[in-house]
Amino acid sequence: MSASKIRTKVGIIGAGPAGLFLSELLHRQGIDSVIIESRTRAEIEGTIRAGVLEQWTVDLMHQLGVGGRMAREGHFHTGITLRFKGQSHHLDMEELTGGKKVTVYPQHEVIKDLVAHRLAQGAVIHFGVQDVALAGIETDRPSVSFAQADGTPAVLDCDFIAGCDGFHGPSRQAIPAGHRREFQKIYPYGWLGILTEAPPSHHELIYARHDRGFALLSMRSPEIQRLYIQCDPKDDIALWPDERIWSELHQRLETVDGWKLTEGPVIQKGIIAMRSFVCETMRHGRLFLAGDAAHIVPPTGAKGLNLAAADVLVLSRALEKFYAKGDASGLDSYAATCLARIWKGERFSWYMTTLLHTDDEASPFEHRIREADLDYVVSSRAAATALAENYVGLPI
Ligand code: FAD
Ligand code: PHB
Repeated sequence: MSASKIRTKVGIIGAGPAGLFLSELLHRQGIDSVIIESRTRAEIEGTIRAGVLEQWTVDLMHQLGVGGRMAREGHFHTGITLRFKGQSHHLDMEELTGGKKVTVYPQHEVIKDLVAHRLAQGAVIHFGVQDVALAGIETDRPSVSFAQADGTPAVLDCDFIAGCDGFHGPSRQAIPAGHRREFQKIYPYGWLGILTEAPPSHHELIYARHDRGFALLSMRSPEIQRLYIQCDPKDDIALWPDERIWSELHQRLETVDGWKLTEGPVIQKGIIAMRSFVCETMRHGRLFLAGDAAHIVPPTGAKGLNLAAADVLVLSRALEKFYAKGDASGLDSYAATCLARIWKGERFSWYMTTLLHTDDEASPFEHRIREADLDYVVSSRAAATALAENYVGLPI
């Protein structure tokens, strides 16, 4: 069977936040793109992941005309609560950062809004594709071959390929190993996350450090809570019946007099491992990596989706300059521009993770240092401001 040929300017692999934001941004500059995605639309719209958006990401959603539902259904908090040593401390991010808020609006809702908007504009998104392979990335005519959902082979010819296919996608692997400059840290703990049909027990996020391990209270709607506990990343979820999860959540979160965690039926649960990873080679020839394809952060800092959106904002501006003026300088500086901010996101995510998790491998000295760090954050305006400005998002 001969492959059907598709021609576009920018071939985008992956319909996660990076790929969808990029296609939207390019459309606004009159640059056409085609997205190919290995999962179905229902799968990408149903996968539970991130919850927190930085202020500039919220602003970007509005600028792109996709912020209406978020404005109605999102949760807008002035700050977060840090809970440790039997006390709760409210960090007022809005006051510390001159008006920036903490927005809780789930990633799959962002995905739904972007997919609906792109399709309404006539965008082409091929869902459920297989056997994706990149070719000619060191030439001016790169291409991506794949099998469409019905099995028919296709080739996407383009000027540029945007690798927005997450950590396990094929794009990063298409860069020869000898050219890739990579950095990684694996953490000895993971998160067990649940969704439960119970109204939020608190009006804002609670990040708790406890001798039994970290716990986080978040929310999805007025009826649904999102909760996480630190666990062994190698644990089988079968080892965690609901009663054991609730018992840990109660012990780690109910450390403040009079505060009660509301329980409800568990409607979803899963375990994720944690890593920090950066592939500094974000460009190779005509291939550009963006989002989780290039970097991973542990979720404690709530940065991953936001870093993905920041990459594609930089990439869209670089492509706009290229197509409007034939100026490739933005493309040449793409990696350096992104990496300056990515490493700060990596640092903050690592900091929040080591600050709040208990680590059997850490010495008693290191435990005391982390407690002192937390005390410092809640007792010094300078330290609180440093945490707040990173949490709500550094300038783009
Ligand atoms: P992805 O979302 O991984 O999208 C990549 C897409 O590419 C996927 O749809 C995938 O199916 C597709 N793909 C893969 N392989 C192929 C292929 N061969 N061909 C075609 N398509 C392919 N971030 C935050 O900012 N705030 C948070 O609060 C937060 N909390 C989190 C909580 C958890 C539990 C987890 C797991 C993550 C959290 N994150 C958070 C991180 C965030 O979810 C990711 O950083 C974000 O999804 C990255 O977006 P992306 O588009 O780069 O990659
Ligand atoms: C979430 O609601 O899923 C969430 C919130 C804060 C984080 C990570 C995840 O730091």
